[in-house]
Amino acid sequence: MRTIKSNLNRKSSGFKKNYEAMKELVSELNKKKRLVKIGGSLDARKKHIKRGKLLVRERVKYLLDDEKNCVEIGCLAGLDLDKSDIPSAGLISIIGKVSGRDSIIIANDATVKGGTYFPITVKKHLRSLEIARENNLACIHLVDSGGANLQEQTGIFADKDGFGRIFYEMAVMSSRGIPQISAVLGSCTAGGAYIPAMSDQTIIVKDNGTIFLGGPHLVKAATGEVSNSQELGGAKLHSTLSGVADYFAENDYQALDKIKSILEFVNYTKPKNLAEKKSINPKYDAKDIYGIVPTDLREQYDVREIISRIVDNSELEEFKKDYGTTLVTGFAYIMGFPVGILANNGVLFSESSLKGAHFIQLCEQRRIPIIFLQNISGFIIGKKFEEKGIAKDGAKLVNAVSTVTVPKITIIIGGSFGAGNYAMCGRAYSPRFLFSWPNSKISVMGGEIAAKVLASVKESQISSSGKKWNETEKNSFMNSISQKFEKEGSPYYASARLWDDGIIDPLDTRIILGNSLSFTQNILKQRENFGVFRM
Ligand code: COA
Repeated sequence: MRTIKSNLNRKSSGFKKNYEAMKELVSELNKKKRLVKIGGSLDARKKHIKRGKLLVRERVKYLLDDEKNCVEIGCLAGLDLDKSDIPSAGLISIIGKVSGRDSIIIANDATVKGGTYFPITVKKHLRSLEIARENNLACIHLVDSGGANLQEQTGIFADKDGFGRIFYEMAVMSSRGIPQISAVLGSCTAGGAYIPAMSDQTIIVKDNGTIFLGGPHLVKAATGEVSNSQELGGAKLHSTLSGVADYFAENDYQALDKIKSILEFVNYTKPKNLAEKKSINPKYDAKDIYGIVPTDLREQYDVREIISRIVDNSELEEFKKDYGTTLVTGFAYIMGFPVGILANNGVLFSESSLKGAHFIQLCEQRRIPIIFLQNISGFIIGKKFEEKGIAKDGAKLVNAVSTVTVPKITIIIGGSFGAGNYAMCGRAYSPRFLFSWPNSKISVMGGEIAAKVLASVKESQISSSGKKWNETEKNSFMNSISQKFEKEGSPYYASARLWDDGIIDPLDTRIILGNSLSFTQNILKQRENFGVFRM
């Protein structure tokens, strides 16, 4: 029987308690998203509009064929960082269709510190380009930026993943036939000038658009030459004299229309890699997820209850159901796309790790994308398990996760701790996309355990010097460690630093997975297995 049978009791006090708690978390998430979507200060927005410009999210909306089937990357990046709070990192990144072509729109928000690049802005721009490269998405750059944030230059300039890497990535993608289109809708200064300059085709807007390697301030400071920004690098100059831009637009709308028109001529047909079926809604209501997920991450529940609310018709073709039961593996369809699912149902033992590695090989053989539903406290520990070789069995799973070539998508639906994060395709294992639920927690281990470990180390040091650790000091030490882990384990802390691609409402999981799966299909990936060796 493939249909998952739900044993959920919606009337139980646990369900109601969980439901209310998740509702509260989602409402907090929506509030944070609403706030960052406003962008910069009221004054900055007024100034922007007065210049006849559209606000950044209006620009993106105007470009998209269909606002519903798009995926935003890093909406909460830059939130409450240690030194500053930068709404959406001053850069909006949205994947969707433009003129029928799957594209990523990377757009500066000039109302946030003139659209200048903080370290997190560079990181977000590079992550967006990485997504474009891995999924063959046309890149649309909506440029409106003062370039490097000069207060932050050490964090953005010289390293491998600095500002310069943006232009490198653009060149590499262009060489692979991935379109690079820019519209200069505002300032585009210094290093930033390479964005339109490195693009396949570039548009510039009258009066507002400027492109120059050194702006009027810099030219005056360096050479004493006095000029205004239009004389130095305005739309007229670049579309008639320098040839840096290919098209002149009267305003934002005309520039955005030109992008749509350019994308109609890229001669591209999306490949069909998967044997798709008609999408069928799950049998069970997705809203139940709120009541299923316990408020305490340590509490165990059957992850099939979640799977049944995400996959088509709530059907799972389960693999090795009764073996290695702390990992659920099986094939299903999501919005009509076939997928292999690996979902945690407890800590990883040797058996569950081996089962996971075996299942990943099946997905690779059949070219089926993999979904990881991550809720993991780690691998099992202890003498008995070390003796049995948990380290090498776990390594097999980590190896399979690392080297499998089909698209992987990870959703952190609960805890993401220790090596469990690796085995279940955490950020370092290059999932094409990684999203988190607002109840999730991510850290090397739980705060309580970390406090105990560090206190035990410190206590040994103190006693080896012949002293005794005062109980009050020990408690206060342990509390401070727990609090630090609590803060740093928050999904907001992670998302602000782009350790994920965004925090999502669990109710949106199915549609986000469906859209993401569709975006991954732009690549025709060849098998990389060995052929037959004639021995
Ligand atoms: N580094 C750090 N901060 C910068 C900055 C930069 N390159 N450019 C602008 N800012 C800050 C401003 O200090 C201001 O901060 P505040 O809100 O705290 O006062 C904010 O960004 C907005 O700048 P402002 O000049 O008021 O906005 P604007 O829309 O009129 O002009 C620019 C925006 C980007 C066109 C203009 O500020 C400019 O030309 N900046 C210098 C760009 C430059 O030379 N960059 C060199 C990169 S290598």
